[in-house]
Amino acid sequence: MAWTKDSWRNYPIKQQPVYPNQEELNKVLARLEKLPPLVFAGEVRNLKQALAKVSRKEAFLLQGGDCAESFENFGAINIRDMFKILLQMAIVLTFASGCPVVKIGRIAGQFAKPRSSDFEELNGVKLPSYRGDIINGFDFNEQARIPDPHRMLEAYYQSATTLNLLQGFARGGLADLHEVHRWNLGFLKKNELHKQYADISEKISQALAFMEACGINTDNTPSLREVSVYTSHEALLLPYEQALTRVDSLSGEIYDCSAHMLWIGERTRSLDEAHVHFLSGVKNPLGVKIGPNAKAEEVIALAHALNPNNEEGRLNIIIRMGSQNIAKNLAPIFSKLKSEGLNLIYSIDPMHGNTVKAGNFKTREFDNIMQEVRTFFEVAKSEGVYAGGVHLEMTGQDVTECTGGASNVTPQSLQQRYETQCDPRLNADQALELAFLIADLVKKARK
Ligand code: PEP
Ligand code: CO
Repeated sequence: MAWTKDSWRNYPIKQQPVYPNQEELNKVLARLEKLPPLVFAGEVRNLKQALAKVSRKEAFLLQGGDCAESFENFGAINIRDMFKILLQMAIVLTFASGCPVVKIGRIAGQFAKPRSSDFEELNGVKLPSYRGDIINGFDFNEQARIPDPHRMLEAYYQSATTLNLLQGFARGGLADLHEVHRWNLGFLKKNELHKQYADISEKISQALAFMEACGINTDNTPSLREVSVYTSHEALLLPYEQALTRVDSLSGEIYDCSAHMLWIGERTRSLDEAHVHFLSGVKNPLGVKIGPNAKAEEVIALAHALNPNNEEGRLNIIIRMGSQNIAKNLAPIFSKLKSEGLNLIYSIDPMHGNTVKAGNFKTREFDNIMQEVRTFFEVAKSEGVYAGGVHLEMTGQDVTECTGGASNVTPQSLQQRYETQCDPRLNADQALELAFLIADLVKKARK
């Protein structure tokens, strides 16, 4: 069937809300279609070029952010701290590995959540599941859980202001390498990681002073004072994605202008269903999540469907198998894929296969997260594949959602600052620690 931006409606689809009022829904969609794009085709093409470098082993991908952004926690501090932690992690990775890092946030649009169950039960009360702030409300009551199309408009405007602030930080001075000391988040100062980070900052400052003496400075070399931070989210709520899909007047190509990169989740990646069909028709870089039961043939078929021209930088296979499964399940996939000649990026999401329950809290243990990352690098190395990136759920805040790591969150301390509306995130300490641990692996992977 020929692709149009609404041809996905002819395919089976999972994980969609049922809006009680179709007329309201159509009004909102008509309005969204008239609103400006959130990202521009030229920026998306820049990202694709940066990702092509990852697929050629010339760069590493760092993708991270909230599991779910929320309307309630929206604010400048959260965005600034997410930006800072991304930059800190990237600088740690670049410094140790000598490799450029492509930075993509799960931000400015990461609102819609796939759920394992359509219903949630609490104290004998059963309600429709929360599906993310773009769809319904987090509060546990009947009214909140009714899908409301106006939430799409709120998500759109929140994404626009988030993007605006991110661009300000990226171009307005905060990302200047001379500010590397200032990216440190206040509460990190107390621990050993801070010392390691201060060492790197000091060396960077020395290198900058040396370069300045040689005539290389922020005036003649903009890359010393500016960075590119791109946006991404799971393209789950297709009516919203369709409304933001536009034809680029310069190239005539079609882009989903809700974010630079979009991914398809583990639950909605069936080949003959709506999500794969929809994303096959837009030019953005794409990701697809691959869980523990995936087979090499499925990945190959997805690569043909989503990247028929075998373009570099188009498709990122995001592996999320769990620390227990990854060694045995990933090796046969890599082994088979190697001989296919496909241009793919492989990255590891060590979060979604390692979720456990601790009392009433969903959590993830830092050691299991790190173990899955290590095994990913090992399997890739032994199969001759480049381990090209990492995909994380994290925050710049000092939350207690994942256990372990140097900050030593315990199952007992989870309740202190458990703020996520969906999955548990690494706090800023744990994220930075992970970056230090990964840096050496990246260096070896590129040898
Ligand atoms: C997510 O990234 O938040 C998510 C739901 O992932 P997955 O599709 O891998 O379960
Ligand atoms: Co998640």
